[in-house]
Amino acid sequence: MGNKASIGVTGLAVMGRNLARNLARHGHTVAVHNRSGQRTRDLVEEFGSEGQFIPAYSAKEFVESLERPRQVVVMVQAGAPTDAVLDEFAGLLDDGDVLVDAGNAHFADTRRREAALRERGLHFVGTGVSGGEEGALHGPSIMPGGSKESYESLGPLLEDISAKVNGDPCCAHIGPDGAGHFVKMVHNGVEYSDMQLIAESFDLLRTALGYSPARIAEVFRTWNTGRLDSYLIEITAQVLAHTDAATGKPFVDIVADQAEQKGTGRWTVQIGLDLGVPITGIAEATFARSLSGHADLRAATRGLAGPSRAPLSGAEAERFADDVEQALYASKVVAYAQGFNQIQAGSAEYQWNIDLGAVASIWRGGCIIRATFLDDIRAAYAEEPNLPTLLASGEFRRAVEDGQDAWRSVVATATRLGVPTPGFSTALAYYDALRAERLPAALVQGQRDYFGAHSYRRIDRDGTFHTEWASDGRPEHRLDT
Ligand code: 6PG
Repeated sequence: MGNKASIGVTGLAVMGRNLARNLARHGHTVAVHNRSGQRTRDLVEEFGSEGQFIPAYSAKEFVESLERPRQVVVMVQAGAPTDAVLDEFAGLLDDGDVLVDAGNAHFADTRRREAALRERGLHFVGTGVSGGEEGALHGPSIMPGGSKESYESLGPLLEDISAKVNGDPCCAHIGPDGAGHFVKMVHNGVEYSDMQLIAESFDLLRTALGYSPARIAEVFRTWNTGRLDSYLIEITAQVLAHTDAATGKPFVDIVADQAEQKGTGRWTVQIGLDLGVPITGIAEATFARSLSGHADLRAATRGLAGPSRAPLSGAEAERFADDVEQALYASKVVAYAQGFNQIQAGSAEYQWNIDLGAVASIWRGGCIIRATFLDDIRAAYAEEPNLPTLLASGEFRRAVEDGQDAWRSVVATATRLGVPTPGFSTALAYYDALRAERLPAALVQGQRDYFGAHSYRRIDRDGTFHTEWASDGRPEHRLDT
């Protein structure tokens, strides 16, 4: 066979097809394959003029059309279908070839697959790809895990097709085995958090000021010219400005208010709990989606008493939109601080050695959470790679401190009007808990010792202590002496 492909894509549903087209548009010869041949034929027929494709109608033909080391991107449904396809291709590949899973796999599955394929002499790269269908075609943010060696051959191609910010590719080697999928998982968790905060802002502007969705779209458009400049704010303005063709009503008012999820947010929360990282913003955002979906609970409690909801007036109303902007920014800092802490914790647990600044850098473009803000995060980690939390970095610290009065006033207004703001509220509680001199955790320790002799530590002496609560007057005693 003459011309060979530098990379192949199997699984040509929209994401796989768009990645293949993106690669071809960048001058790479791409082998394309799909379980049913029709998709392969369609791709070549419709988009064949965009670059060099080698259509293959069997796995064997596909593998034979690839240059060595062979690089095969698998873009099939997560879970069992991915395992089946990996297994099939592993049997056809040779030592040193690279299998890439570019779907939203759970990082624990990626670790398992990487170990199994390594045994068979293959490199396995679990990579996060963010940016949806459009991103896959025009430049996504790419988060590849796997061996350094695999990145040597695969990295340049992925960097080529990724989004660029000031000429920098939004793609970097994240770390071994599951690191890439872990980072993509946290990306999605942060995405949930960011979306929830934006949704709360909308709810507040509507309830407290009586603004229409179209007017709120204008507010978001203005915010998008400042420090909140981001893809999510931009599309929110477009969604809010959209009118439903069938009814003439604002689109947002005809959509069922039950948010769904494919599960990456849930994974982020589960892993956050396992690692002991307080990712409260992501958790509240995920729970807010599940609460919205509980039609039964909501129906059973409809009509429960709430406060009167007269819109604000006077000076309070005048500054409210600006206050919400400040609350949104501060809560967003908290959400991202928590997400980066989760990556830090995962990296320590699995010895991935993830460069947080590089993560911020490749999230600046291509992905769903892309934002100007991420350049500030990149800069913060460039200045201090071991930053314990973004809240401790100069710029963010100052911005949140400056905004805290407005933030508090927005949460207070929300409470007063009975507008649920779990995202804003938990972010503020996190901020206050971190900065607290003393936390009531001391009392919790006392309670635990009382009912379960679980012991406690003291602030003035080393060691572990227990108090004999039942017998009056018996002094506390150290357990470890
Ligand atoms: C991306 C998105 C993408 C996605 C998720 C989240 O980075 O391109 O995060 O992965 O839209 O599937 O979707 P859910 O809201 O359905 O969980």
